Amino acid sequence: MKSRFTAFCCAALAACSLLACNRLSEIQPGAIWPDTEGRHINAHGGGVLRYGDAWWWFGEHKADSTNKALVGVTCYRSKDLINWKYEGVALAVSEDPDSPITRECVIERPKVIYNEKTGKFVMWFHLEHKGHGYKKAHAAVAVADNVTGPYSFVRCGRVNAGKWPCDWSEADIEAVQAINMNLPIKAKTPEWIEESAKGRFLRRDFEGGQMARDQTVFVDDDGKAYHIFSSEENMTLHIAELSDDYLTHTGRYVRVAPGDNNEAPAIFKKDGTYWMITSGCTGWKPNKARMFSAPHIFGPWTKHDNPCVGPDADLTFQGQSTYILPVPGSEENEFIFMADIWRPKHPIDGRYIWLPITWKDGKPVVQWQDRWKPKT
Ligand code: DGJ
Repeated sequence: MKSRFTAFCCAALAACSLLACNRLSEIQPGAIWPDTEGRHINAHGGGVLRYGDAWWWFGEHKADSTNKALVGVTCYRSKDLINWKYEGVALAVSEDPDSPITRECVIERPKVIYNEKTGKFVMWFHLEHKGHGYKKAHAAVAVADNVTGPYSFVRCGRVNAGKWPCDWSEADIEAVQAINMNLPIKAKTPEWIEESAKGRFLRRDFEGGQMARDQTVFVDDDGKAYHIFSSEENMTLHIAELSDDYLTHTGRYVRVAPGDNNEAPAIFKKDGTYWMITSGCTGWKPNKARMFSAPHIFGPWTKHDNPCVGPDADLTFQGQSTYILPVPGSEENEFIFMADIWRPKHPIDGRYIWLPITWKDGKPVVQWQDRWKPKT
């Protein structure tokens, strides 16, 4: 009896020390990030929601050797932002070949927000249909009653069809309508960039709706939500207001940095100023981060220097911005910059860069650190 008890105690102790070993005490940007089961977290291009007494991380499930969606959007839960428990697939790809989210579509940059009025969790993501490359440029939305899902696909499509930017004057509309759409212009030439800034692609897509690729969503202090995405052939960002239920666009939107070729928007608000960090467009390869600020979500937006500091700062530390997470009540890491290191040949091995935002001369700074511990 005594020896059975000793054996039980030894086993319990071994289990406890194993569990303790699995517990992480800090974040190591760029390293393998094991979940509580010891598996590298699979939630790329994602975002984090604070709900209840926990943090919920949603992201793209990446497969071994393809960037196509074979599984869907995953969800992880944490209380300390360091140790994450896998909660399963929040939005599953469909087995129906006719569904827009059928297996082998492309699902990117999912973000979940909670709607206080409806009590629903709303997920927005960039969707490309199976077999169409990146041509569809659709915004897609899914909804759930519980934070972990299951999320039901609601709709996808181009955005704000038949609407001009809400800050445009009659003269702006006349100017874009005067563009000679029959003029052949070679893609990526200075003339093409200039024309895109003027609104050539906006005009082209006016009736069918605007393109929506890299994206995020932002809920303002007044509960209004905004969808921010790369539009107009990735040349111009749009910030578009969402309806009160967060499930559709209201038709009010502005263009940001026309012709400046921004992707990967991540946004936060501090003391009444909106800050946005983006990237340039170089596919899966990293480039130099950009930063903008505005006194109002609809602008005017001012461009600033790259906020990254440290090794490979001019390549966003080899990553690309994804989300900026507010951690209310924490002074040392009130906002966390989240980025992805993409591994297009082995997507599941993509890494995460999480770094606290600090301030210098009134502007955000993202300083590289090999390891750090968030305060929650
Ligand atoms: C960069 C984007 O930020 C990613 O989300 C993805 O769309 C790749 N481009 C595809 O090349």
